[in-house]
Amino acid sequence: MNTQEKTISVIINGKTFTVPQGISILDACKQYAGITIPSLCYLKGICDEGSCGICVVEVAKARTLQRACITEVFDGMDITTDNEKIQEARKMNLELTLAHHPLDCMTCDCDGDCTLQDLAYQFNIKKSRFLKEEDILGDKKETAWDSNSFIQFDPNKCILCRRLVSACAN
Ligand code: SF4
Ligand code: FES
Repeated sequence: MNTQEKTISVIINGKTFTVPQGISILDACKQYAGITIPSLCYLKGICDEGSCGICVVEVAKARTLQRACITEVFDGMDITTDNEKIQEARKMNLELTLAHHPLDCMTCDCDGDCTLQDLAYQFNIKKSRFLKEEDILGDKKETAWDSNSFIQFDPNKCILCRRLVSACAN
């Protein structure tokens, strides 16, 4: 019997669920409890670097919040997916992610089809409190934009999620 065929019990927001051993908190919550935890950098099978911290949840007895996309469930794990502390941490991590990214959505090609935009709206962030105008590149971005015939890279839009790096490496 491989590990995927074994099942374990986890508690999600006070209810007990039987889930396969080895899956992530993110998948356990979505597939078995119908709870979608917000995520940004994670791409199943491609990027599991856990860089953004948007998906944090509380696990009983853990000293810190855990990243749901890269943390595997264990038998008896007691998970809380939503409370004030979690919301504050997610908002803080999102603002850190947006520290070098002005929300110029109205003039952006991705407007209306952007997870980052959706999350900023969800967490009511119009501008990151960590954004420094002097960090925004002006003309320099023009040189970087078309530096590769397959990839358009705009440093003002890069949030260092490492999805692209992981996709290329994998
Ligand atoms: S990439 Fe940035 S500026 Fe463009 S729609 Fe998304 S959040 Fe807005
Ligand atoms: S989605 Fe989990 S750390 Fe980014």
